Amino acid sequence: MTGGGDAPGLNGIIEAASRVLLKNNCEVTGILDGFEGVFTGRTKNITLESVLGMHAEAGTFLGTSNKSKIAGRGDEFQKQFAKMNLDGLIAAGGDGTFKALKELAPDLPIIGVPKTIDNDLQGTEITFGFDTACTVVADAVDSLRSTANAHHRVMVIETMGRTAGWIALGGGLASYADAILIPERPFSRAALAKYLTDAHTKGAPGLVVVVSEAAMAIGEDPIFNEAKNSSTGIRFGGIGERMSRWIEAHSPWEARHVVLGHLQRARHPTTTDRFLTASMGALAANLALSQQWNRAVVYRDGKVLDAPLSDIQGPPREVAPDHRWVKLCLALGIFI
Ligand code: F6P
Repeated sequence: MTGGGDAPGLNGIIEAASRVLLKNNCEVTGILDGFEGVFTGRTKNITLESVLGMHAEAGTFLGTSNKSKIAGRGDEFQKQFAKMNLDGLIAAGGDGTFKALKELAPDLPIIGVPKTIDNDLQGTEITFGFDTACTVVADAVDSLRSTANAHHRVMVIETMGRTAGWIALGGGLASYADAILIPERPFSRAALAKYLTDAHTKGAPGLVVVVSEAAMAIGEDPIFNEAKNSSTGIRFGGIGERMSRWIEAHSPWEARHVVLGHLQRARHPTTTDRFLTASMGALAANLALSQQWNRAVVYRDGKVLDAPLSDIQGPPREVAPDHRWVKLCLALGIFI
C-alpha cells in the first residue's frame, strides 16, 4: 500500500518488494488508493509481469490518497483488512500514514517504508524521492540562469518542502544558486537586499534565488495559501512571487518567479533513488518473509537497515541551522 502524497521511487519500492516476495513463492496483493482501498476492498493481484520495469516511473501504480476520513473507523478498517486475508502489510508512507495506521489498527503486522520528497521524516537520514526532487530544482536553477543572465534579472524559484528546507538547500547547493532561503534560517531582509545590490554593483549578469515554500524573514511568519490541504489543513505557497516583488522594490534588479510545484514529485527517479528503493523494497520484503513486523526500513550511515517502526514517527526532521550543507553554502559565498 502506498499512502500520502506520491514521491518518485514508490514504484521502485513496489517492484523490488514484489520481486523478492514472488521469488519466494508468496502471493502479493496491492491495495489500491491507500486507505481507501482497504475501506472499499479494492486490491490488485501483483504478478511479476505487472511490476517489471515499474521502478523507472514516477507516481505509484497502486494509487494513493491523503484525504481519507479515518476518525472512528478503526473497527471498519480492521474488518475490511481481515477480509483480504493477508499475513501483513508493507506500507510506504509519511508520518500521517503511520499515525493513521496506528490509530486504525494498532496490532496490524506492518513493515513501514518512510516516504516523502521533503526528506523530513525522523529515524532515517534520507527518504527516497528527495534526490529526484533536488534534481528537478538543480535543473531549474541551471536552466533559469540562462534567462536570468540574458535579461539581467533575478529569477526566484519556489520549491516544496513544507516546514523543512531540505529540497531548496539540496537542489540550490547542487546548482550553486546565488541565494537559498529556508524556514530553518529566517533571513535578514537588510542583509539580503545588500547581498543582491552588491552583486549588481559588481556586475553579476543575473542571479538565481531558491526559496523554500515555508521560508520567512526574521520575525515574520511563513506565507500560507488560502486553499487548505485536506490532509494537513495547511497549504504553503506564494513566497516566490512575494520575494520577486520585494526584490524589485529593494534592489536594482528586475525579478521574475517560477513555482516548481508538483514537477518536483513527477520526474522519473534518479539512479540514487533507484538504488535506495531497490534496497529498501527488498529489505521490506525480507522482513515480511521472516515475519519481523512493526519494523521500518531506514537509511543510516550509508546503509539500508531496519529499525523499530516508531523510529520514523514524530515531528518533521528539519535542517539544523548549522548543518554541513549550510556551512558549505557559506564557504561558497551562497547567501543563506
Ligand atoms: O509533503 C510533500 C509535499 O509535496 C510538500 O512538499 C508540499 O507542500 C505538499 O506535499 C503538497 O501537497 P499536495 O499534493 O496535497 O498539494
